[in-house]
Amino acid sequence: MSNQEDRLKTLIGHAKEYGFVFPSSEIYDGLSATYDYGPYGVELKNNIRRYWWEAMTKLNENIVGLDAAIFMHPLTWKASGHVDAFNDPLIDNKDSKKRYRADVLLEEHIAKYEDKINKEVEKGRKRFAESFDEAQFRATNPNVKRSQDRIDAVEGRMKAALEANDLEALRQLIIDEEIKCPISGTANWTEVRQFNLMFATELGSVSGESSTIYLRPETAQGIFVNFLNVQKSARMKIPFGIAQTGKAFRNEIVARQFVFRMREFEQMEMQFFVKPGTEMQWYESWKAKRIAWHKALGITGEHYRFHDHIKLAHYANAACDIEFKFPMGFKELAGIHSRTDFDLSNHEKLSGKKLRYFDTETNESYVPYVVETSIGLDRMFLAVLSAAYEEEQIPAKDGSTEEGGVRTVLRIPAPLAPVKVAVLPLIKKDGLPEKARAIIDTLKLEHNCQYDEKDSIGKRYRRQDAIGTPYCITVDHETLKDGAVTIRERDSMAQERVPIEHLGRIVGDMVDLRGLLRKL
Ligand code: GAP
Repeated sequence: MSNQEDRLKTLIGHAKEYGFVFPSSEIYDGLSATYDYGPYGVELKNNIRRYWWEAMTKLNENIVGLDAAIFMHPLTWKASGHVDAFNDPLIDNKDSKKRYRADVLLEEHIAKYEDKINKEVEKGRKRFAESFDEAQFRATNPNVKRSQDRIDAVEGRMKAALEANDLEALRQLIIDEEIKCPISGTANWTEVRQFNLMFATELGSVSGESSTIYLRPETAQGIFVNFLNVQKSARMKIPFGIAQTGKAFRNEIVARQFVFRMREFEQMEMQFFVKPGTEMQWYESWKAKRIAWHKALGITGEHYRFHDHIKLAHYANAACDIEFKFPMGFKELAGIHSRTDFDLSNHEKLSGKKLRYFDTETNESYVPYVVETSIGLDRMFLAVLSAAYEEEQIPAKDGSTEEGGVRTVLRIPAPLAPVKVAVLPLIKKDGLPEKARAIIDTLKLEHNCQYDEKDSIGKRYRRQDAIGTPYCITVDHETLKDGAVTIRERDSMAQERVPIEHLGRIVGDMVDLRGLLRKL
């Protein structure tokens, strides 16, 4: 098993053991690519959603919210292009009978060349130390140049094949690059076929007829069809945005890698309506705003990179991903897409209703262009969890309440942590439990608190570390006399004696979501 697979497996095990994520319907052996969020998972997920929602709707006076239905009129998906073009190119290996996305096989192949380049760069960095000039090294090192030429050649042919919808060219590229099935190790491939990703179901109508409807594959269309309702009712002026979070469904073929690629998942999308011709300026502005939202969490910058799309989706004139360094390597976390007037114009055509904005300053009426930001909530959850997970060796110290050995700690950004404060009576008697519960009563309206009296203090600290609780408060016999407690911080494990009345401020300063929002 590779190191990457090991890390992902460890994370999946931890997420299950500590109540973050369970396989769906596990008692029936689970349902592939579907997961349930447990007690701590749902808190973390809610906190991420709230961070996104407040960053969109509180910090931007020209962005408002919406919660549209999952089911939509079937013509929605004809207009959006999903019925005709929301396909994945699939290829099967005849020996292992395993099915793959042809474009993903090629992207993983390209990633191997990128890994080679990164290794060369790291070697160079070590060799030249202080005098290392990365840009110059990348431009001149023969090994790096050779790998980069290969990447450019494969990307060029892949882009041409995808744009021309030339499935035979895609297959030929896989064969020319000698890409093998990871299971059988052979290159015995079938032809490439297109497969539509939408889940269809039947809607019973009053007359007894039924018609095919789809589970939405993106939340965005609920925003487009409501564009005028929102603009008029909330008296919005262009440029303005509509934000929405909610479930989306895709019949993914290669559904694996935990909550990274699921068949039922949650999106957080914002459609920003702009005057035609200004979309590139807004596209750049939203790229900058979105990366700032990620970086405010304090996860180091080396976890992120932008990746321009090789093949633009059927609706876009510019598009990029924010990629994140997941346990399985750099992968798409979020997208920023300039969608032109594709969606609104097509909804106009199929519905016969005008979806135009009337600009009272210029007396013009036009179909706005749209810049979209889209992020998978589950992928963001995995990003936060994987960056937070650490196994740390700590020495045993005499007289310390910390136990020596390896501790597993989730360094989740404090405002996103599922539980903010654990209050722990040193022992289960002498009035300490009552005092601990009284402290919780003063904090619980502001913060998610937990009470724990079982096992030694050291063991209780470990349990809180494992779910990422930023603060533990210990109540001891002295507390009853001096009204002070020991507060222990998760990351540094530093302990300090503080008066009970200071707790609200100390904890509040660190865990308040507003601290994150202020950085934006
Ligand atoms: N409205 C545009 C749109 O849906 P997308 O790139 O197909 O664009 C947006 O999806 C985001 O949704 C992705 O960046 C990813 O975070 C998330 N996403 C897409 N498919 C997913 C899946 N099968 N499982 C989990 N998240 C997914």
